[in-house]
Amino acid sequence: MEKILIIGASGQIGSDLTIALRNIFGNENVFATDIKQPPQDVLESGPFQILDVMNENALMDFVVKNKITQIYHLAAVLSGNAEKLPLKAWEINMKSLLSILELAKQIGIKKVFWPSSIAVFGNTTPKLMTPQLTYTEPNTVYGISKLAGERWCEYYFNKYNVDVRSLRYPGLISYKTEAGGGTTDYAVEIFYEAIKSHKYECFLKADATLPMMFMPDAIDGTIKLMEAESEKLTIRSSYNMAAISFSPAEIAEEIKKHIKDFTITYNPDFRQKIAESWPKSIDDSVARTDWGWQHRYSLSEMTEIMLKEISKKLGISYN
Ligand code: SER
Repeated sequence: MEKILIIGASGQIGSDLTIALRNIFGNENVFATDIKQPPQDVLESGPFQILDVMNENALMDFVVKNKITQIYHLAAVLSGNAEKLPLKAWEINMKSLLSILELAKQIGIKKVFWPSSIAVFGNTTPKLMTPQLTYTEPNTVYGISKLAGERWCEYYFNKYNVDVRSLRYPGLISYKTEAGGGTTDYAVEIFYEAIKSHKYECFLKADATLPMMFMPDAIDGTIKLMEAESEKLTIRSSYNMAAISFSPAEIAEEIKKHIKDFTITYNPDFRQKIAESWPKSIDDSVARTDWGWQHRYSLSEMTEIMLKEISKKLGISYN
């Protein structure tokens, strides 16, 4: 019987992933934890506890007490926020991963999931169809921490046989919980503003194309990777994973198909430079070959669902 611990269950990925895992493994077997309160459905459908991953003793006690067999470690400071508090972000992102890897080694956790990001790439990386193996010279604190984390994951796998698995997520788009502090967050904010005021001021330029993915695809891919046979996995740092790529101008066009008078303006801030250092599209053929990754949602399908769900959530109709 698997007992799964989610760290960061109140966050953008965690709030959706917790529910998906509870549907598979049973509500009582998926332990949601975070330093902040989760959405209502996470709170009501199974165990939730406030737990700070930076508190190693509390983490160890929790894992032992609940006989945890798998850990999903999703807590992190995202790219934009990390630039404001570099050393703090480094400490949170790195120390938490290292204490989980060490705990997994010491008490024999069966599987660990840890997300990496397109932020491991930098200015020297080829921008189009970025390969799995390429230059990785990130220029952000977040990217440096993700790259170092990837190396640590591979190290713990090779040296201590810790079965840790990882994905380089692109920008993730979802309607349930907002991310906060990321460079790709504009692609979520735009829907809220489109519905509320029919206009949006974007902090990236019109042509800042980035790799993106609708959350249901990210959740499916994550679970698929975690269910794959260990022998099939040839990458123990982190897999490239792609779905769709678009620019702010392109997503605005898509929204205009539903909200005719929607307008977008551009006022790029420091995050534009971060976006420019990241790829525009990703070659994820290794993930597709090794464990059968495939995405389902197009930009237009995603836009339709985002508008519908967020307008329901806000209680505002948009047409
Ligand atoms: N979406 C993240 C960010 O923008 C990238 O992993 O920080």
